[in-house]
Amino acid sequence: MTNTKTVVILAGEGIGPEVIAEARRILDWLVAHLDLPITAREALYGTEAFRRAGKIVPDETMAALEGADAILFGATGGPDYDALPAEARRAGNLLRIRRHLDLYANLRPIQALPALHAASSLKSRVLEGVDFVIVRELSGGLYFGEPRGIETLPDGERRGVNTHLYTASQIRRVARFAFELARTRGRRVCSVDKANVMEAGAFWREEVSAVQRAEFADVALTHMLVDNCAMQLVRAPAQFDVLLTDNMFGDILSDAAAMITGSLGMLPSASIGPARADGRRAALYEPVHGSAPDIAGRGIANPLGAILSLAMALRWSLDAPQAADRLEEAVRAALATDVRTRDIMHEGGRLVGTGEMGSAVLAALETP
Ligand code: IPM
Ligand code: MG
Repeated sequence: MTNTKTVVILAGEGIGPEVIAEARRILDWLVAHLDLPITAREALYGTEAFRRAGKIVPDETMAALEGADAILFGATGGPDYDALPAEARRAGNLLRIRRHLDLYANLRPIQALPALHAASSLKSRVLEGVDFVIVRELSGGLYFGEPRGIETLPDGERRGVNTHLYTASQIRRVARFAFELARTRGRRVCSVDKANVMEAGAFWREEVSAVQRAEFADVALTHMLVDNCAMQLVRAPAQFDVLLTDNMFGDILSDAAAMITGSLGMLPSASIGPARADGRRAALYEPVHGSAPDIAGRGIANPLGAILSLAMALRWSLDAPQAADRLEEAVRAALATDVRTRDIMHEGGRLVGTGEMGSAVLAALETP
């Protein structure tokens, strides 16, 4: 047995391969220069996998993911993906991977770096000191609840159905995750729901409160209705430390919160599963931005979401927290030289492409 950690990389579609190439260069640099016991390899996923192996997630890929210490994922979606047969998309895709590996806790850190205040749509005084993490439940709720589908009633009327469903254990495990994370930060959790309208929301609130009372008396818990939360995120985001949400609310609120960082292109994420028999946890790291087919292949996408996702992998799964700190510091140093991809460009900034932004981070790593 060695302690070598394995990273499996799925570049995916759209701008996925472009941003992942930069994260890969940086991973290779860190492994070589810091002597990290990490091996990385790519596996087939998406339209390319379908062309070659007849499946979006080939069996070989799924097997590789099951054994990986960390999965680094680029992006999925776009016109080529949409053109794949519907049954192939149902049989395996990103959501299937999340579900198969039971990746229930999705972390989306929201930081307003002073260097990027100018890129944000919000005022600098609102951004001052913002540093919180969204913990989004990722394995349940509206995304997976049954019944679901589109059906025709006996009278000919059609209807669409999805089900918002959470069991107590699903709520409790993600709540525990949020409380434990809060213990490493500001010891405050704000839990989001729609308890004034939804029974499942009132239930969410009850269960989160019960976990806090029984196990986390040292962490302060507040509750917020989701509509109010959307408003507070743009009014006074510095109030949050750990924001706990269900699957759908977290999807929506994290896109809104992304503008605090300056651009959706900046946002990394980690999706973490339960501890396996050997204590390791399945984990997938991906930029939040998606495949952006409109700019794919042009070398202009922001690779920092992917690069910061790699930093999260180093910290959470690869036993290399110092490398993670150093990489995040290098990203800040690169931004301090005023290089900017198009999405975070400001007056006086130097406009660069995907590869140049990766090189700027590498240059910062090389000059500590
Ligand atoms: C996200 C994305 C995904 C989601 C899509 C691509 C299915 O929007 O990770 O936030 O809705 O979870
Ligand atoms: Mg989303």
